[in-house]
Amino acid sequence: MKFGDLLHPVSASEFLGETLGRESRLIRGAHGRFEHLLPWDTINEILSHHRFSDNSQISLAKNHTAVCHDVFNPEISTFTVPGSTLRHRRVEAARLNDAVEHGATLQIKGIENLSDPIGRLADSIESEIRERVTVDAFICKGETPGFSAHWDSLDALAIQVHGSKKWALAAPTVRYPLPDGDAVSQLDRAPEHLEETVLGSGDLLYMPRGWWHRVTPAGGWSVHLTVAFHRRTAMDLAHWFVDTLSKDEFFRSDVPQRWESDQAVDAYLAQLVSSVQRHARQPDLLRRFLSSTEQVQPFRQVFHLPRVGAEDLEVAEAGRVSWQAPLAAVATEENGITVVAGGREYRYPASYGPVIDALVGGGTKAVAEVCRLVAPAGLTTDDVRTAVAEMALAGLIRVEGPSEDQG
Ligand SMILES: [Fe+2]
Repeated sequence: MKFGDLLHPVSASEFLGETLGRESRLIRGAHGRFEHLLPWDTINEILSHHRFSDNSQISLAKNHTAVCHDVFNPEISTFTVPGSTLRHRRVEAARLNDAVEHGATLQIKGIENLSDPIGRLADSIESEIRERVTVDAFICKGETPGFSAHWDSLDALAIQVHGSKKWALAAPTVRYPLPDGDAVSQLDRAPEHLEETVLGSGDLLYMPRGWWHRVTPAGGWSVHLTVAFHRRTAMDLAHWFVDTLSKDEFFRSDVPQRWESDQAVDAYLAQLVSSVQRHARQPDLLRRFLSSTEQVQPFRQVFHLPRVGAEDLEVAEAGRVSWQAPLAAVATEENGITVVAGGREYRYPASYGPVIDALVGGGTKAVAEVCRLVAPAGLTTDDVRTAVAEMALAGLIRVEGPSEDQG
């Protein structure tokens, strides 16, 4: 599922232009349209097979209080990997079932790394919104609230997968809160009236950061996903900008001391202001900031075992390929193409450029279609196969068989 499918019938361009960062928005959709993202079988597989290192990955909350110690029984579920001091824990079924039966909300954090359909959706959202996203799953039964009214310093998309849930919303009382804001002190300042709505299966709710929300189970089972993303702020830009100034000798020089004359201090401050202005006026400043903060974000690399060498990885014309590093910076240089993704630099021949252009931001494509797109640049099918195989083995491209249709 791609970002555009998630928002349907609202278009991605309408959402980005009119809603993102501005207002909350409810999008109603067909019952069950998100069920494939997180079927019950997947939830059970994750709980059965995944080792959770601590409560930061999975937790339970009930009546506004974290009850995370209930998930693990340290006596029987904690084990130490030989040769390592790391302790891994498995969720204990009896404790989990009992807690959820008695009204606790189970939260599985970072589920985009544990589920392929959710990981693919997260990639698509990252590609459109240009911010790193994380996804948490919330699972509960009955009517006991998990959390009281609060706001978060992240934008959130709530996707109702199974069942329904009540959301009560109010506009921000603190505009544009930053991630290090104090969430606890919010509790006694919640507005008296929050507008209530019920999110049913197939519905989607977007909230910019700072929006008050109180989420209450509506009876029966509810599974929803919250896609969260940090928006970069002027504070982030300012921090990055200040770091770039050290290249300028003036910013490395000493500040005037108290014994300097007023005239010398005034001259120094005038130079400080003009130097900051000169650096800030560079026309590509914002683009450089966006790019440098995006290219260090981790991406979900793909593996193609047992294929580990380019000659092993057959890229069939009927196969399908997709770009895996939505926030990568791709630059054409004199001696080739440089891709910077996840903080690592990958160098390729210039002939790979049209293949990368055909794939970046474009979802999953048939290899034959990529061949058609790059033909005007003089690339043959073999050229495409070579480029795709090399970048696939670096984890940057996913290669799938022809029958797959997971978008
Ligand atoms: Fe929240």
